[in-house]
Formats: sequence, structure tokens, C-alpha cells
Amino acid sequence: MLFVVTSVVFALLATTTAVDVPDFAAHFCSKTRYEDSSAAYRSLLADSDADRSLLRAPSGERCSPVHLTALVRHGSRYPTVKNIRAIRQLSDLLRRERERRDGRQVRSGPEEGERDQDSDTWMRDVLSRWDMWYTDDMDGQLAAKGREDLRQLATRLAAAFPSMLGEESVRGGRVRLLTSSKHRCISSVEAFQDGLHLAANVTPVHYRHQVDDGLLRAFDGCRDYVEGVEKNRTALAEVHKFKRGPEMAALRKKVAGKLGLPLHDLTPDLLEAAFFLCSYELAIKSLRSPWCFLFDTHDAKVMEYKCDLKLFWKRAHGHAINLLASCPLFHHVFRTLDKAGWPRRASDAPPDPASILIGHAETLLPFLGLLGLYKDETSPTADNYHAQHGRRFRSSQLVPYAANVLLVLLDCARGPRLQLLVNEAPVRFPALPDDDAPLYRDVRAAYRHLLDGCDYAEACGGAATGGRTPNTEL
Ligand SMILES: *[C@@H]1O[C@H](CO)[C@@H](O)[C@H](O)[C@H]1NC(C)=O
Repeated sequence: MLFVVTSVVFALLATTTAVDVPDFAAHFCSKTRYEDSSAAYRSLLADSDADRSLLRAPSGERCSPVHLTALVRHGSRYPTVKNIRAIRQLSDLLRRERERRDGRQVRSGPEEGERDQDSDTWMRDVLSRWDMWYTDDMDGQLAAKGREDLRQLATRLAAAFPSMLGEESVRGGRVRLLTSSKHRCISSVEAFQDGLHLAANVTPVHYRHQVDDGLLRAFDGCRDYVEGVEKNRTALAEVHKFKRGPEMAALRKKVAGKLGLPLHDLTPDLLEAAFFLCSYELAIKSLRSPWCFLFDTHDAKVMEYKCDLKLFWKRAHGHAINLLASCPLFHHVFRTLDKAGWPRRASDAPPDPASILIGHAETLLPFLGLLGLYKDETSPTADNYHAQHGRRFRSSQLVPYAANVLLVLLDCARGPRLQLLVNEAPVRFPALPDDDAPLYRDVRAAYRHLLDGCDYAEACGGAATGGRTPNTEL
């Protein structure tokens, strides 16, 4: 097993050192690479001899892990069609502007363009080193790097939790796998299984996952969420206000100036497309895109904030319904833990040692929200960017590609305990701040209001209607 961990570390070092990573790669919001985001992952890279035991049972109490529930986001992916269209629009805009200038230069001689020389260089630099290579059919698909993200996560988890994800569980088909129906999630759940089988040295791989959108995309079916937040501009007013606010205006002016574009042509959405181009090419192709040179860390933090605002108001604490739309998942997870923890008669079938749930940033954020995590005293708004530098709600840290929320049930001398990890780092339940692995019954008591409540049907006021295609593409 040590060999597995060590070779994974070397493989990671080999792939990460080769890449020229922009300074602000940890600020790409939900388009952040796991290795640029996660503190746990970074410490793994920094010290390959580090004690990889992730468990924090109380010292002096004998414990052994008996069940793992892992809620995992899909890996690095291509842009969705909506993003690809924005990228195409930006690319066309730049090319038209260059042609216009070339025409003007031919007519009036080379001197006239002198004032624009800097921006001319920037624009030519981007256009000479970058071609529009995205096509609509890439639409949110998992990239090869995304498969690798999930394969490596599975390998690390199998090494950390051999009693749950080791050879016996894999051979016996005892790892339960549920996934969202989106192709990037299906590809991710397959890659995860590849990783498990590889780690357990079991071939061939028989995929045995099931699709469950009712659990992993329950928000799609929640009428009051869809009508009240997703389709409701007022619910996202802070986002629209920030887009037109002073921080974004200054950044648009800077980037438009660099590229020599008229300010009104570089809309906030096209500015965002330029920023995310930098993130996509890092995450998909492992290279530093020429688009990255338009931004510095200060700029990236402004873009990150815009994105955090959107996720906060659309997917997290911003509106209560954002969280309640995920009640089915919350109940499912605790039912699974209940079953795994309860004493059984010898004749009962043993519970699943592991339950893997593959979904989206939109699946993880409301779940973390229901647990009461990453909630700041003050909500982020369009006006308090500067007061929010130390905020806890930071999507780049919470939901990078392959983000994960791990719940480990431990069988201990004093009874079952539960430990939570976010992106492979231990995190405490807000109501139980003194304990890394509190007694499971205390965790249940802390969430009693949700276990007895959190009524999806009541909160949602009915099922969402119509064959809409939701704009939920994280
Ligand atoms: C839209 O959002 C606002 C602000 O959250 C809310 O007051 C209003 O009721 C919502 N509209 C609908 C149709 O739900």
C-alpha cells in the first residue's frame, strides 16, 4: 500500500511540475483544479512521507472505520455550450477588431496606430498563439484530465480506507455507486471505479453504478427553487449589481485597454469568458493559455468574488430553498449512516462498507450548507467585496474539480463516531467544535431539526413543470 501511495505522489509530482501554473490558479472558482485548491492535496505533494492517516479518533479510544460515504464532484471538464458560445463571441470580436485595424493601417500608413501599439501587441500575441478550438459538442464533457482526477482520488481513498474500499469490497461488489445522469458524472463514476480496481489489482472492471437524479439533482424537480431562484433575476440581484459595480468596471477597463477593444464591446460576460479560458486551458490541456496574461491575482480575486456571489445566492446559504431542495440527499446520507452504524443480528446482511455519490458543485454546496458549514457572519453582497477577503464561503476551496465530502463512520469503544472531511482534510461539525470525530448520536442530535424536518415536498411546493433545460452547468 505504501508503494501505491508513493507512486501516486510521484505521478502527481511529474504532472504538476511540468505545468507553468498561473499565480492565481487557486482563484478559478468551481473551475479550479483540485491540486491548486486543496490544502490536503498540497501537503501530500509537499511531503510524500507525510502520515496519510486521515482519521482523527480520540486518542486512547479504540476505533475502526466501518463505513465511508463520499459525495464527489465530477473531474475537470470542457466548457458547456453556453460558455463555448461566449468564448466564440470573444474570439470573433478580437479578430474583427484586428481586421479593422489592419484595414486602417493599409489606408493611412503605419504611424496612425502608434497610440494603440501596446494593445496591438497584446491582441496580436493572443491571436497568434491561440486558436478557437472549442466546438459545441464538447458541451461539458469530462476531459481526459478529469478522468485522471477521479482515478487518482479513488486510488488515494482506497489507500486511506483499505477496509472499506480495498480488494475485498471491490471484488465483492460491495461499494455502492450512485451518479447524476450528466455525461461528465457518468464518465467520472467510471473513472472512479477504474481507480478502485487498479488499486485493488482487480481486472477486468465491471461497472456497477446506478443513475439517481432524484438524489443528486433534486433541485431540478423543486418548483419553488426553479421559479423562485433559478429563473428569478431578483433572487440574484447582488450578482447583477456586482457585474455593473466599480470593481468589475475597473477590471473591464483594464482588460479592454490591454486588448484595444472598445469598453462597451467587452461585456462582463465576455470578460468572464476570457478569464475562464485561462482556467479551462490549464485544467484541460495543462498549459498556460495566452489569455492568462490579461489578469493578475488582484483581478482574479474580483472574478472569483463574482462567481462566489452567484454560487452563494443560487446554490448555498443565500436563500433557504437552495438548501432545502437537497433534503432528499441529506436524508439518504443519514439513512445510510444509520444502517451502517446500528447493531445487527448475525443473520442480517452486512451494510455496504462504502457509498459513493457522484454529482456536481450544485450537489455538494447545498449539502455543506445543510450541515451549516462555510456560513459567514455577513452575507457577500455587491457592496462588501473588500470586507469579504477572509470569507469562509470560497468556491475555489470548496468545489474545485473532483471536490469531495467524506463521512467516515467509526466503530469505537464508546459507540459509533462520525468524522467529516472536505477535500480530504478533517473538518468539524459547527455544532460540535471540540471534536474531530464526535459520537454519531451527538451528530444526529445536532441535526435533529433536519432529520425530523427538511421536508422537500413542503419546501418545494410541488414538482417543477415543463421540459425545461435548466441552466445548471457546474
Ligand atoms: C424572486 O426573488 C425575490 C427575492 O428573493 C423574492 O422576493 C420573490 O418572491 C421571487 N419571485 C418569485 C416569483 O418567486
